[in-house]
Amino acid sequence: MRREKSTGGAAGVLYDSECLVWTIKRGCAMGDEAGPKCRGHEPGGHGRGTSSYRMQDPGIVFDSLALKPGDWFLDLGCGPGDYSIRASTIVGRVGRVYALDERRHVIEVLRRKIQALGLDGLEAIPADITKALPVGDRCIDTCLMATVFHVPGVSKHAETLFREIRRVLKPGGRLAIIECRKEDMPLGPPKEMRWSPEEIEHAIRSCDFEKTGLVDFKYTYLIQFTMH
Ligand SMILES: C[S@@+](CC[C@H](N)C(=O)[O-])C[C@H]1O[C@@H](n2cnc3c(N)ncnc32)[C@H](O)[C@@H]1O
Repeated sequence: MRREKSTGGAAGVLYDSECLVWTIKRGCAMGDEAGPKCRGHEPGGHGRGTSSYRMQDPGIVFDSLALKPGDWFLDLGCGPGDYSIRASTIVGRVGRVYALDERRHVIEVLRRKIQALGLDGLEAIPADITKALPVGDRCIDTCLMATVFHVPGVSKHAETLFREIRRVLKPGGRLAIIECRKEDMPLGPPKEMRWSPEEIEHAIRSCDFEKTGLVDFKYTYLIQFTMH
């Protein structure tokens, strides 16, 4: 696990830039009911990786994504796969979910979970999302990147990444990005690593996507684009 000293947050914290985790010496952070619990201690146990899934109300996220049975869903930088698992229960066996992450052990943990849950339509694949995506052309209805774009090693490849997302999306397909609000808070990346919705719109401006939605949560936001 890569850990970096934060320059932007409360004293006595470390930020794990792969997992969106502030490790706070005094213990868990921001444990209110709609917000994140102590990230390393979420259900699922050791080795599952860290999820942003409960940093906002996942029900509102999935209402906004409006997935349907039979849809094909791509989760880039899936981590423990919480979004993929929920998506798979919606799109069903006639649909398909691809969950991609560069960390092999996270993919292995997710694969075991998929098997235990019997989710035939969900495939976890180790992949670096800044390179060619291991997904066919024009087959995806909705692509999600949840708290991944702020990772500098990802956003510096924005052009390649958005080009690849365009390639795999069906015409009229959607890209949904969840990121932490660009504010100081004791959980998540330091403020200087965060992207505001306007900055994401700017980064994607030349890629022929139209912004079609923005939902603000307490700690995060969900911005959606539709491909022309
Ligand atoms: C903060 S976690 C978010 C996990 C998940 N999307 C969620 O919100 O529950 C960021 C994830 O992005 C993955 N990641 C970072 N850079 C990546 C890359 N170049 N290719 C694939 N995955 C990457 C990390 O391994 C990690 O699982």
